[in-house]
Amino acid sequence: MIDFKKTIAKSIAEAIKIDEKELETYIEIPKDTNNGDYAFPCFRLAKELKKAPPMIANDIKNNIKIDEKFIEKVEVAGGYLNFYIQQSVMVKDVLEEIANQEEYGKSEIGKGKNIIVEYSAPNIAKPFHIGHLRTTLIGNSLYRIYKYLGYHTIGINHLGDYGTQFGKMIEAYKMWGEEYDLSVDPINKLMDMYVRINELCKKDENVLERCRENFRLLEAKDQYCVDLWNKFKDLSMVEFNKIYDILNVKFDSYKGESFYADKMDEVIEKLNEKGVLKESEGAKIVDLTDVGIDTPCIVQKANGSSIYATRDLAAIMYRAKTYDFDKCLYVVAYEQNLYFKQIFAVARYLVDEKYVKGLEHVSYGMVNLPTGKMSTRLGNVVKIEDLINETIEKAKEIIIEKNPELKNKEEVAKKVGVGAIVYNTLSTTTIKDQIFDWDTALNFQGETGPYIQYTYVRTKSVLEKAGYIPKIGEVKFDNLLDETSKNCIKLIYNFENTLVQVTEKEEPSILSRYLIDLAKAFSNFYNDNKILVEDKDVQNARVYLTYAVGKVLKIGANLLGIEMPDKM
Ligand code: ARG
Repeated sequence: MIDFKKTIAKSIAEAIKIDEKELETYIEIPKDTNNGDYAFPCFRLAKELKKAPPMIANDIKNNIKIDEKFIEKVEVAGGYLNFYIQQSVMVKDVLEEIANQEEYGKSEIGKGKNIIVEYSAPNIAKPFHIGHLRTTLIGNSLYRIYKYLGYHTIGINHLGDYGTQFGKMIEAYKMWGEEYDLSVDPINKLMDMYVRINELCKKDENVLERCRENFRLLEAKDQYCVDLWNKFKDLSMVEFNKIYDILNVKFDSYKGESFYADKMDEVIEKLNEKGVLKESEGAKIVDLTDVGIDTPCIVQKANGSSIYATRDLAAIMYRAKTYDFDKCLYVVAYEQNLYFKQIFAVARYLVDEKYVKGLEHVSYGMVNLPTGKMSTRLGNVVKIEDLINETIEKAKEIIIEKNPELKNKEEVAKKVGVGAIVYNTLSTTTIKDQIFDWDTALNFQGETGPYIQYTYVRTKSVLEKAGYIPKIGEVKFDNLLDETSKNCIKLIYNFENTLVQVTEKEEPSILSRYLIDLAKAFSNFYNDNKILVEDKDVQNARVYLTYAVGKVLKIGANLLGIEMPDKM
């Protein structure tokens, strides 16, 4: 497609003899369309050119040679230059691209780059909580978007399947295993045992010692302990997979913490070689005060046991070697901010600088239900599977009320319910805390997943009524020059750029926002224009635009992890 921004930067560069690439980064897209399609602020040039911004703007305007094929006019507004694109050129460019590209917006800009997205990572024998739901959905959409932009993308579920807590679980199972029927609702029962054994450990030092011994045995690959641990893992995976199935989330690798059990000596050795390992009360630590982190990173406990951090460090070494990553994203709650600062700081002793630079913690905020803070420790656990299923149930009630005739209600309810959850999760800026509340998430008119789906369904029904989609050759682009058509076209034009922004900021909410804007722009277009009209040329153009909007809504929603129903 035509790169209007570049075209503008080029003509400004020719007028004032400043590097085109630099100028391009200054160019903005004005919020108010009255200020043109692109604006060039002259403020940053004031110092260099020793002139007031409005004067610079005037100078550029007088000297610039604009290509009238692309640019309709240029105007000075204070310290800004506003550029107005030839609308008919943009319409033609956008709609032809829609016609020629099955996968609109797909690109190759990521070609040759390896991106690891690590997400979900629930803990074996512990509930999959609402925070895990958030990392799962954020990671899933980042994964899809990177892939769409041509990156070689690796999705990793770094399962919490190792650590001293398994020593406790094994002990609990030895003591009380027979009391529990693990064939139903195993995770809550394992969790129950875990709470019980923790209580007992607090009271009885001997039990605690037995737990520690179990973990040592597990690390030494004792068959009984390994078998039990596998059993816990299998039971948990059955539960987790139910959630992944409903949400349609997949991973390329499930290498969790246990995978690194035999790769940790290498970490310790390397840190030793570099002379950065220190002893502190029997434990081995790395001091990080030189990079402004006051808390040292513990890499080995006094009793020689490995810990969470050691496994992460081993994972960094393994991933650098195996995937030669350009970026390795960790979608993990903000509670672990300090932790990731620590391990990234230790990583400089273990892998090449280029890998250290690629490590990035995508930190997300808390999720609250309207009733208050959710925390496993408070015992206020919502089973995520129940939360999803209840949302689907509620979606179904709404659908039955709105459209009793609808055929595949179950299937649609699933798409709408899941869409509501996914959108709600991805609409807030990642780092911010958020609230999940059914009424808001399922509102068909609000800024929600169902609203985007509903708008898509509307485009579908327009096309069905029309009974045809015109060939691109039959579309007379000049019929789409009104304000509401223009807004749709402009948004569609910016789709790929929106995806790129998501990857620059690791922020799927940019795409969520975009889809709402596109849905609203279409509603305005739809309200202002009759689509099926006498004049065949006008109708063709409007039907084609409807088709284009539907196509982009669907691709965009899929990239967030939302499926579109054809009717609802
Ligand atoms: N299992 C951890 C938890 O549930 C998250 C793991 C995050 N990833 C990592 N590489 N440390 O809190």
